[in-house]
Amino acid sequence: MADILHKVIEENRQGEAYAPFAEDPNAYNKKFYIESYGCQMNFSDSEIVASILHEEGFGATRNLDDANLVFINTCSIREKAEQTVRNRLQAFKKMKDEKPGMLIGVLGCMAERLKAKFLEEEKLVDIVVGPDAYRSLPALITEAEGGQKTVNVLLSREETYADISPVRLDSNGVTAFVSIMRGCNNMCTFCVVPFTRGRERSRDNLSIVAECQDLFNRGFREVTLLGQNVDSYYHTTASGEEITFAKLLEQVALVSPLLRIRFSTSHPKDITDDVLHTMAKYENICEYIHLPVQSGNTRILQHMNRTYTREWYLAKVKRIREIMPDCGLSTDVISGFCTETEAEHQDTLNLMEQCRFDMAYMFSYSERPGTLAARRYEDDVPEDVKKRRLEEIINLQNKHSRESYKNDIGKTFKVLIEGDSKRSDADWCGRNTQNKMVVFPKGNYQLNKGDYVNVKINTATSATLIGEIVE
Ligand code: SAH
Ligand code: SF4
Ligand code: F3S
Repeated sequence: MADILHKVIEENRQGEAYAPFAEDPNAYNKKFYIESYGCQMNFSDSEIVASILHEEGFGATRNLDDANLVFINTCSIREKAEQTVRNRLQAFKKMKDEKPGMLIGVLGCMAERLKAKFLEEEKLVDIVVGPDAYRSLPALITEAEGGQKTVNVLLSREETYADISPVRLDSNGVTAFVSIMRGCNNMCTFCVVPFTRGRERSRDNLSIVAECQDLFNRGFREVTLLGQNVDSYYHTTASGEEITFAKLLEQVALVSPLLRIRFSTSHPKDITDDVLHTMAKYENICEYIHLPVQSGNTRILQHMNRTYTREWYLAKVKRIREIMPDCGLSTDVISGFCTETEAEHQDTLNLMEQCRFDMAYMFSYSERPGTLAARRYEDDVPEDVKKRRLEEIINLQNKHSRESYKNDIGKTFKVLIEGDSKRSDADWCGRNTQNKMVVFPKGNYQLNKGDYVNVKINTATSATLIGEIVE
């Protein structure tokens, strides 16, 4: 059975999740609670913050009532994201009224965008810290404990937190995020990220590989390399060697054939054949690419400053499928960007028909203060039109997702077990290389999370494959 199930048995393997929250409750007399919103980078940053706070003697807690320090790591990408944070702060306010010593800190992109204004707008906030200033948290906390409101939103050209070993929060012990770069230089006209996260910079490759090795040694079996545009990763080593993203992928793939590698996000203008060939070469680099298109119309793409055309995008998708015929593909789409006509919206639907994405994140355009689009273009597509176009995009994608998942019925996939399925602890769940979630009964096999297993698919919904373990 062992060879069928690819069961991994190793000395250093921990069957259970590495759970920072299970730490000795008496080890720390001060406790912090952290809640994260937004993209994976923000969740990854919260793990860096947790590490910095640990060093200062703060232990993590899942229970708000236990916390002396409450942090909210925020997102500014759309207006709704910011509204969610404001609502959450209102809920914290009630708690603070009952617990006067409690400090509230706002971290992340909204902190960066609003800076000191946050302290005026949200009176309950004590600490405001931007994404590049987390090392100053201990000093800011000390000041805040002394009754002062504190802010540090300095952006950096160098900070990558390369030497900080993240404390894995809410971990399943199998999959982890690893930041490989920070910031973004692309200046898409709709996007707030270059303003909230500053200039792009890449982290030292050796520290990335070391972090992945350490995760593997602790029982983790999948890393997701994170950056806003991973294809522009670039680092020159002390000996002058040039490390591109393709090279980095290869170095991480060589940590162990049992360590799966994923990455996000790729940019259609930058993804190279080199990266695609590296993916095809190493079985443990997952065949899945998240390739945000945003729009299927060239004029709108230019208006967005995406710097590629519809044809360029379609050619990239074709290339991906030439090199990896079974590669999973997902995307991001924005409806109703400034000046978008009905015909241009149809181009987006038509591009979706041609690409047949397995999954997509779909949004209606939300104007963000300070962006080029906000300063130069009129947000002139009426809200109801944006909504209707978004619905058309979502309906089409749902159809494509259903078809894509249905097409997998009868196939057998190698799945990395992540843990019990949400519905039942008699079932395991995990992903196939294409990033599709697979659920299957545990049966009588002696398996653990972190093990690889072959699963034959019997049925499917539009977001889950359901199957059984096969020999
Ligand atoms: N770096 C990634 C995307 C990061 S933001 C990339 O370049 O693809 C994640 C997604 O949010 C974007 O791909 C886009 O689809 C969406 N988004 C960003 N700004 C937005 C805005 N102002 N309104 C609506 N959606 C937006
Ligand atoms: Fe934003 Fe564009 Fe950078 Fe992505 S590539 S983070 S959409 S500016
Ligand atoms: Fe949001 Fe900042 Fe990420 S704006 S999407 S948390 S980079």
